[in-house]
Amino acid sequence: MSIQKDVKRLTAPDIRARKGGDAIVMLTSYHAHTASLVDKYCDVILVGDSLGMVMHGLETTVPVTLDMMILQGHAVMRGSERALVVVDMPFGSYEASREQAFMNAARVLKETGCGAIKLEGGARMAETIRFLVERGVPVMAHVGLTPQSINTIGSFRAQGRDEGDWGPIEQDTLAVSQAGAFSVVIEAVAEPLARKLTAAVPIPTIGIGASVACDGQVLVLEDMLGLSPRVPKFVKRYGDLGPGIEKAVADYAAEVRSRAFPGPEHVYAMKTKKP
Ligand code: KIV
Repeated sequence: MSIQKDVKRLTAPDIRARKGGDAIVMLTSYHAHTASLVDKYCDVILVGDSLGMVMHGLETTVPVTLDMMILQGHAVMRGSERALVVVDMPFGSYEASREQAFMNAARVLKETGCGAIKLEGGARMAETIRFLVERGVPVMAHVGLTPQSINTIGSFRAQGRDEGDWGPIEQDTLAVSQAGAFSVVIEAVAEPLARKLTAAVPIPTIGIGASVACDGQVLVLEDMLGLSPRVPKFVKRYGDLGPGIEKAVADYAAEVRSRAFPGPEHVYAMKTKKP
């Protein structure tokens, strides 16, 4: 027996089919409550390993574990019903071998119920991407700036600033597309390169700090809401929730301290007013 839901969730093939069509809207979310807020507006919700920095105050994404990703992936699936949920594979969970990648990706799909995984790396990960896709794991790739490589690249700087440095990023993008990725995140590259990459591959490119030339865009939700203490320069803020939250907390603290905090009588009074 299968249980039919009213809302059909978007799938990796649905997103793949959007190449050159309506722009793909993607945001990160790590919790059921933010997932339920963004679900209506997003095609894809990314449970990014950025949660290590955003939720846990870590300096980089390197310490994030598979268990952390699965816990939050499950929460986001519970909070959403329409968007494709993509869960990031954290550093160390997929690079050692194709088999390691499959075992861990299978855990993510089984234990969260999400529709796809994302992993970082281009040409070097192509064989693994092919192996996963052939075995039923939809893969979103991630090229350009790959934050999990921070210890070898040294800084979170934009990539391919000089035309002479474009070659490896072009090869990476072509390699993941040919290996069967259904889409590719392109992080921190300049517009002419993003345009070239988007024209070169038959899968949607999703930019983060990579200009309007991509087929879609992704941002870290807390960055665009003004809740992150440090954000990359390219992030446009669509909200400034930090001061609003601080004011609410300050008002609450002041009421508690002055013993003006409403007791249950307040709630009962409101209830009795209702017809
Ligand atoms: O972890 C993340 O949030 C990401 C996005 C920044 C693309 O990978």
